[in-house]
Amino acid sequence: MKPTPTRRRSPRHAEIGRGRAPTPGLLDFVTRLLSREDPTLRRIRERIPAEGLPPISIGPDEGRLLDFLVKACGAGRALEIGTLAGYSGSWIARALPPGGRLHTLEIDPRCAQVARRNFQLAGVEGKVVVHLGPALETLAALAAEAPFDFCFIDADKPNYPHYLAWAARLLRPGGIVAGDNAYLFGKLHLKASKAGDAGPAIEAMREFLSGLTTPETFSSCAMIPTGEGLAVAVRR
Ligand code: SAH
Ligand code: DHB
Ligand code: MG
Repeated sequence: MKPTPTRRRSPRHAEIGRGRAPTPGLLDFVTRLLSREDPTLRRIRERIPAEGLPPISIGPDEGRLLDFLVKACGAGRALEIGTLAGYSGSWIARALPPGGRLHTLEIDPRCAQVARRNFQLAGVEGKVVVHLGPALETLAALAAEAPFDFCFIDADKPNYPHYLAWAARLLRPGGIVAGDNAYLFGKLHLKASKAGDAGPAIEAMREFLSGLTTPETFSSCAMIPTGEGLAVAVRR
């Protein structure tokens, strides 16, 4: 008997142990349940376009994840690369204990100005230092503030491998690094020639992820499957 012809297709979620993919309705339900923003954080996020800045901050689900990660590693000293309007920074700073400190790095003076005001609105101005300038220059100067317990990388994607090298240098053993946009806007797996604007950053993001999986430097690494991909690792 001839075998029934089957259409070749990629393995379904369940076949490779992923369970089923959540539907948008389910994700909305869980966001309302678990990722509530207080009205101040929501206002800060929603007003980003009105401030003339691009609407590229993380969302409330990622904010909740940052809160979780900071507390899970007992962080008191945190570093953020890419401030924008201070939305993610407000989540991180609020998760720090009294006396905790977030150093956040931003190249754009307008962003830094908006962020400083938003940190006041969020009630964390006493915990946050905004550093204006190219992050690679600031990081060299910030080595004096090391060790850090937590580092969030969310600035220019081509520099992610350099930011990761700094994170590895500045984190204490057991410290956590998290990188946003690790799916590179859904283009991570494509040929650079097919990835449009993201093309030039593909090699960099792959190098970043391969750095996270280096066992001598990071004892554990995982992709948290947010819409953008949040790659996380623990410093060995
Ligand atoms: N973490 C923010 C979003 C950051 S968007 C949030 O989720 O709320 C990326 C930011 O990185 C932008 O504000 C951009 O100006 C900044 N940036 C880009 N290149 C940079 C560089 N070389 N040094 C420091 N900041 C940079
Ligand atoms: C962009 C940057 C981000 O960090 C992000 O989360 C989304 C978009 C961007 O540069 O377009
Ligand atoms: Mg981002």
